[in-house]
Amino acid sequence: MSITPIGGRILDEGRRKVTTASLREQKLHHELIACLTAYDYATGRLLDEAGIEMILVGDSLAQTMLGYENTLSVTVDEMLHHVKAVRRGVKTALLLADMPYGSYHVDDRDALRNATRFIKEGGAEVVKIEGGEKRADLIRRIVDAEIPVAGHIGLTPQSVNVMGGYKVQGKNLSGIEQLMRDAVALDRTGVACIFLEGIPREVAAMITAEVSTPTIGIGAGPECDGQVLVFHDIMHLTFGPPAKFVRRYADAAALIKDAAQAFRADVKSRQYPSDEESYHLPKETKASLDTVLARKKMMMR
Ligand code: KIV
Repeated sequence: MSITPIGGRILDEGRRKVTTASLREQKLHHELIACLTAYDYATGRLLDEAGIEMILVGDSLAQTMLGYENTLSVTVDEMLHHVKAVRRGVKTALLLADMPYGSYHVDDRDALRNATRFIKEGGAEVVKIEGGEKRADLIRRIVDAEIPVAGHIGLTPQSVNVMGGYKVQGKNLSGIEQLMRDAVALDRTGVACIFLEGIPREVAAMITAEVSTPTIGIGAGPECDGQVLVFHDIMHLTFGPPAKFVRRYADAAALIKDAAQAFRADVKSRQYPSDEESYHLPKETKASLDTVLARKKMMMR
């Protein structure tokens, strides 16, 4: 039997495959981790080539790609469709997939079956589950099945109805205590990393110092071991006002609208397609066709 090493494997382009182990090394060496969401092949491939270390097929695709109002409606099958597409584009980055609402809430066997689908069918390397202390036993069972898990605490969008909206968490002492308990409980299960969403930077800093697993912040301040943002937010491919923590790096909305309007104008004014953008008959066929057409014309006279 030959063994293919995975940890630290050097890929064709001379870049090292990111693994759950290499993420821990990054934390130890204070090398910050960059993570973005992706939902399709092209984006996954471009983010991977840009050197993004973690690519998350987030259930935020419910809103960004499918136009749902929140993340609650998206199904395992819908998620898997996107995970498979991103998988085909990603070589170096660690590929994470969100377990959607309802896929791990009914019972543990169901959760395990769904987690297995993300690995086996989707090609994800890590599954992400929202919730802290109360998910610890389930996470242990999934990890026991050789599936790395990412935790996600703080503002957990799948709890939107329980939270009564998207609200920053951990703003009072009991909230801070709960978050600390959640983080420590997740750390003890051996999670691959913990996403910290929508919490005060002071709390995120305390958690990051306390746990041995890397913390990945979104709206959690600069002291986390890494940062994640939603691809559509940084590209301005969204329609509402952005959250406070979103930084826009490009205006893809304007780019797409401008391109579509320019195309429309070219079509209407016959500027598109030009002769160079058209296929032509081979010389001999053109000559034969011209002869046939000329003969036809003669006969019509
Ligand atoms: O679904 C998502 O986009 C997330 C965020 C943490 C990035 O879970």
